[in-house]
Amino acid sequence: MKHSRRGAGLGLSVLALWSFSLLTTSVSAQHHKAPAPTGPWMNTSLSPDERADLVLKEMTLDEKIALLHGVGMPTDDPVTPENADSNRGVGYAVGVPRLGIPGIDMGDAAYGVRSSGANGRYSTALPANVAAAASWDPNAAYEYGALIGRELRAQGFNMSLGGGVDITREPRNGRTFEYLGEDPVLAGTLVAKLIQGTQSAHVIGDIKHYAFNDQESGRNSVNANISKRAARESDLLAFEIGVAEGQPAAVMCSYNRVNGDFACENQYLLNEVLKKDWKFPGFVLSDWGGTHSTEKASAAGLDNEQPDSVFYGELYKEAVQAGRISTAELDDHIHRILRSMFAAGVIDYPRQRSVVDPFAGMETARKIEEGSIVLLKNTHAVLPLEAGRVHTIAVIGGHSDVGMISGGGSAQVDPIGGNAIMPPGKGATHWQEHIWFPTSPMKAIQARAPKATVRYDAGTDAASAAAAAKGADVAIVFAYQWESEGMDLPSLSLPDHQDNVIATVAAANPHTIVVLETGSPVTMPWVDAPAAILEAWFAGSDGANAVGNILFGSVNPSGKLPNTFPRSEADLPHPTVVQPPPESEHFSGPVSPVVRGKGLPPFQVQYDEGVKVGYKWYDAENKPVLFPFGFGLSYTTYSYSGLTVTPGDKIKATFTVANTGTRSGAEIAEVYAALPAQAGEPPKRLVGWSKVAIDAKGKQTVTVEIDPKYLSIFDEQKDGWTLVPGDYTIMVGGSSQSLPLKATIHLK
Ligand code: BGC
Repeated sequence: MKHSRRGAGLGLSVLALWSFSLLTTSVSAQHHKAPAPTGPWMNTSLSPDERADLVLKEMTLDEKIALLHGVGMPTDDPVTPENADSNRGVGYAVGVPRLGIPGIDMGDAAYGVRSSGANGRYSTALPANVAAAASWDPNAAYEYGALIGRELRAQGFNMSLGGGVDITREPRNGRTFEYLGEDPVLAGTLVAKLIQGTQSAHVIGDIKHYAFNDQESGRNSVNANISKRAARESDLLAFEIGVAEGQPAAVMCSYNRVNGDFACENQYLLNEVLKKDWKFPGFVLSDWGGTHSTEKASAAGLDNEQPDSVFYGELYKEAVQAGRISTAELDDHIHRILRSMFAAGVIDYPRQRSVVDPFAGMETARKIEEGSIVLLKNTHAVLPLEAGRVHTIAVIGGHSDVGMISGGGSAQVDPIGGNAIMPPGKGATHWQEHIWFPTSPMKAIQARAPKATVRYDAGTDAASAAAAAKGADVAIVFAYQWESEGMDLPSLSLPDHQDNVIATVAAANPHTIVVLETGSPVTMPWVDAPAAILEAWFAGSDGANAVGNILFGSVNPSGKLPNTFPRSEADLPHPTVVQPPPESEHFSGPVSPVVRGKGLPPFQVQYDEGVKVGYKWYDAENKPVLFPFGFGLSYTTYSYSGLTVTPGDKIKATFTVANTGTRSGAEIAEVYAALPAQAGEPPKRLVGWSKVAIDAKGKQTVTVEIDPKYLSIFDEQKDGWTLVPGDYTIMVGGSSQSLPLKATIHLK
């Protein structure tokens, strides 16, 4: 569902820092309309469930219906009595004013709070979620979520719409940057930390898009076909871990169909797996316009329709009054919503606007980015640069004189000061416009080499770029691939002739360094040419300083790839993204209520690769890759020794990692398992890891505990996880393709 004003409001953001006090006064006045909550449910010694039931008992049918749906998109709609108390974000449910139960005020917040420019507020853009995954750092993921929670709250929201965790089954998915990579254990563990962080600010946390929204093309109609076992061991495992460990108060079901039914009216996904098997106590809300029915959706377990009330407003009330939906079913939805509000603390800690700390935000964003940048190549240790030894630096391409690109769609954070490449006089940017954050790599480089001559070339013409590079001590090419919700990448190739520019520059200067700003993997026909390659992702508000610190070595790179970089698209499970038939509403734009009700005719995507997502596919198919999952270099080197594996409730892998170089650093030590042959699984799967800081010449003993589920398979007959008796090989090392330590353990 798209509205014209999505992504608008950047003009206002220029004024954000200066005008917040004025806006605070006028908007927070609205928030005082609801009476302070009183009543027996305010007894905090009761459980969220008990408190919810006490409220529920008092509610009229109309009040219940009002809590079941949104009231439009306040971002786009005029102020109405229903949305007047909202923070003018993308979604709002009115609460129960008579009983002092506040509205649920939802803000998109994938890598920072969206729409804050329109609200006249500052918000920090963290590096893209995929970058957080590249840090492999649970603490960083927590900080990531905590910053989002704090800023949502400071801006007046009490619910996050972040927490995207669809795994990278299709790397051309335009939302790959919003997700946490191709491995369910990595993605699930990190999204759980992110959710914990967000909810620590008394904001309702969300996990999305449940499930198999693995491509944007035709997302409103596509039917993802996959076996139960493969589903549970891949995409759903990421959600299972996220729900169990993160305890999000809310789950957003996705636009697409799964094995025949829309995700938001899918018995198997919502009731059977999420609510019964995983015992999820919270509420399910639909993606924006993703509700398709009243009775079917309600019976399947959808608790809340967003952003409007096509099926969960009057139609729902009529269905209850006619007895087609039981009061018990209605009450279960209401109970879940209320108990989640109590559990997250949004009732005990009412919305309270305050001032975002932009300096703390910048620092968090920079540190997370520093831990997320992946050094892919570093021939002859061309990096780190030494300021005293580089006299001329050519900085080329990617608008690196002024900014760094960001990911678009509903994740888009408004850049403070506006789009760095916005033409003069242009007030606002729009949905799916490419936005460069005003964080200038060229300035960051100049600041770190103040005596060097830094010259910039736009990189739009290969010959001119090569001329700028020739004779310079070092040439740094910034290459980008923008991506966004609502579209998939046409290919994994860098756009705008950048492959040619890189190859030409590298031919002109042997000390060429390529810095990639991408959300998805890219192919690199030029991979042998440059001396060094860094993957910086969409680097966030202070990306340039993070990149500068890595380039000049004040920070040692420690990120590793959360997605495999394939050699060519022909090696992917699906050589092309399956496209919908060419009817207008098939793509991913807004779907009218009438069409939502009819349900767009499906087109099929067969996920025959099943559990073989990412490295599991390349391993099983014996396909060499460009850069493997879990790969990343450092300015130091590490060695691994002495693996012992001890059985127990949780199997423990203990080993030693030594820093054999001359710089301190942080190594991500990865633990994989090969299951017994009779399990019928791909050659290996990630079962744990630890990111350890080790001083130069130091060493550290590392113990990684392995959750038994991560060694299990999903048995369709039993409808549960089961451990296949036999020999398990535990493998340890620095990437999925460098696992020097191996030990076998027999499990039964
Ligand atoms: C996106 C969601 C988002 C929602 C509200 C949808 O189009 O898929 O991720 O939270 O819009 O903006």
